[in-house]
Amino acid sequence: MITGYTIFLKEVTMLSSTFTKKLNISYPIIQAPMAGGITTPELVAAVSNAGGLGSIGSGYMTPDALCEVIQKTKDRTDQPFSVNLFVPSDDEVTYSREELKEAAQLLHPFYTELDIEIQELPTDFEEPFEELIDVVIDEGVPIVSFTFGIPSEETVSRLKRAGAFVIGTATTVNEAIHLEKAGMDAIVAQGSEAGGHRGTFSTSYEQAMVGTMALVPQVVDHVTVPIIAAGGIMDARGVLAAEVLGASAVQLGTAFLTCEESGTNPIHQKTILESFEDSTVVTNVFSGKPARGIHNYFIEQMNDYEDAIPAYPFQNTLTRALRKEAGKQQNIQFMSLWAGQGARLSKKTKAVDLINWIVREYEKLVAKK
Ligand SMILES: Cc1cc2nc3c(=O)[nH]c(=O)nc-3n(C[C@H](O)[C@H](O)[C@H](O)COP(=O)(O)O)c2cc1C
Repeated sequence: MITGYTIFLKEVTMLSSTFTKKLNISYPIIQAPMAGGITTPELVAAVSNAGGLGSIGSGYMTPDALCEVIQKTKDRTDQPFSVNLFVPSDDEVTYSREELKEAAQLLHPFYTELDIEIQELPTDFEEPFEELIDVVIDEGVPIVSFTFGIPSEETVSRLKRAGAFVIGTATTVNEAIHLEKAGMDAIVAQGSEAGGHRGTFSTSYEQAMVGTMALVPQVVDHVTVPIIAAGGIMDARGVLAAEVLGASAVQLGTAFLTCEESGTNPIHQKTILESFEDSTVVTNVFSGKPARGIHNYFIEQMNDYEDAIPAYPFQNTLTRALRKEAGKQQNIQFMSLWAGQGARLSKKTKAVDLINWIVREYEKLVAKK
């Protein structure tokens, strides 16, 4: 039945897929951008050197930090890689100092549990989106992706004038249609299985919890640009399935979290390697924006306050010290252990081996049909 699909990776092995040709990569396998120090220059370069597309997650970074990561990545590869940015929210959500103080107070018992001093209320909640765009343009990054919204017309045309290929993230058909209209060259269709933050920007996250299997073909039917399937894809079976659904490429996050080159905290990696398909939940308690991660004590305790939690980026800034300290103490009960529902399929491996294994297994699957 699927003999017509025997060319996805074979084709690209021969560098003849339109999508991979356009991006100048060998395999339509994208290592998901993952903010928070996970996408080290070593990981991004290893993926790009192996023929996939490595991606830097620039969320939470300062412009200088992004510059440094790009330089270090360039030192390690001459292949294309991408940078991903968080689109700031259009809604002017603001909070009074009093409201933020109250939200911060909800965290005080956890400081005590971790035996650290209660932190002063931060004053700076801004994210330097425009400055990060400047860095990406100055550094000539060839592929730029976005999540959490639609970049402005001005941003899109600046990037296009600089020759960049731009990618948006959708969790519904409607979001994909808007992203195409805004000039995106390709769109990530992020299914509800996906680890990390939901890219949803046009509706409630609950309504946009559409699984990859249902989302990808519906998005494919309603836009003309190439679709990149994301969410729950961990191996060649997922790649072939995505291809059959009409995707032009796949984006894998969780599968790369346990790669040796990733910056994932070792205890986070260990927890993923020991987790199951039902170990994760979607929660806003760490950052103020719904994200999928492994269930733990902090999520359980904070769930009662879900509605009192300030939106992203406020809650993210408020919990930063707590998360950082928990990471140092290797205390998984207070860390944001982002991971997708495919976590049980994770392996500890090198990025190049993961990509080669997927390609090999894909070819075997296709040969069997
Ligand atoms: C730890 C982690 C961090 C992530 N950070 C980002 C990010 O900064 N930008 C982004 O567009 N997507 C981010 N994502 C989502 C991925 O792009 C992708 O949609 C997801 O990982 C795909 O699902 P999978 O984890 O099941 O492979 C993140 C995912 C994880 C697991």
